[in-house]
Amino acid sequence: MINNNRAFYEEVVEGLSATPKYLFSKYFYDKRGDELFQKIMRCPEYYLTRCEEEIFSLQSHCIAEMIKKHLHNFEVVGLGAGDGTKSMYLLKEFYQQGLSDTYYPVDISDHVIQSLEKKIPRNIPGLRVKGFHGEYIEMLKDIHEFSGKQKMILFLGSNIGNYYPDRALHFCRLLRQYMPPGSLLLIGFDLKKHPQIILNAYNDRQGFTRDFNLNLLVRINRELNGNFTVKSFDHYAMYDPVSGSCKSFLVSLKDQQVRIGSAFSVDFLKDEVIQMEVSQKYHAADIDRMGEDAGFKILGKFYDSRKWFTDCLWQRE
Ligand code: AVI
Repeated sequence: MINNNRAFYEEVVEGLSATPKYLFSKYFYDKRGDELFQKIMRCPEYYLTRCEEEIFSLQSHCIAEMIKKHLHNFEVVGLGAGDGTKSMYLLKEFYQQGLSDTYYPVDISDHVIQSLEKKIPRNIPGLRVKGFHGEYIEMLKDIHEFSGKQKMILFLGSNIGNYYPDRALHFCRLLRQYMPPGSLLLIGFDLKKHPQIILNAYNDRQGFTRDFNLNLLVRINRELNGNFTVKSFDHYAMYDPVSGSCKSFLVSLKDQQVRIGSAFSVDFLKDEVIQMEVSQKYHAADIDRMGEDAGFKILGKFYDSRKWFTDCLWQRE
């Protein structure tokens, strides 16, 4: 097996040996997964991207003005940088106002980093861009060693929602450790709203979200020599408006056995599920509490016009 697939293999075996079975959604993002996520972001039901884009297209100037009261010369780190469309509004504003000339995009997808290193300097000539490909905290450690300058960390798109709230708090505490004092964090949260609107976002009519989940089985087949019959699994999403957790599952459509490599096989009962992803939704007050519990000072919040999404500015003092 290729060496950097070792961790992937071990986490897949661990997840499929657990009760209930699970797979980590961080593995969704191979080349096809990136393409499907782009389609999800453009589909009518998935409102999150449009809400956040509205915030940055209309309020980047206000965000920069608020930042200027606390920090002047910083480097920007984009955690889970994606296609860069939303960050670019902010990066342009920071660059034009002379606040920052350096951007470090971090992403689990190699393919994403390669394309950002070309795309961003084309759009913002003069901005220095150096990509880091890997897991957030590991890459943040690397960036911290690479440069001790104060940072503006962007953790956008409700990526924090892919952790349950207790893990999200733990993650924010870890982030804080790798931020030089005075550094800022701009973090995007999806807000609680009518449950049907949320459920539809994870159950789009064109089936992109279904394919996005099923694609992880295709990836396991290809990269780990698995033999999942993809059509023998279905996608199921559910949202609990009390806890705010929206969860995606794959459901086994029959009793079946799946082999991964030569040393591991797993049995599925008909209707047994694999937990794939959580997308957590929050009340604004819960968000402030999380920021304070993680040791940040809350500086401000920016909302879209419907108040469906918020980007929060926190400072590590
Ligand atoms: C990346 N993340 C914030 C997305 C979300 O909304 O949880 C991933 C996603 N999964 C299905 N649709 C979008």
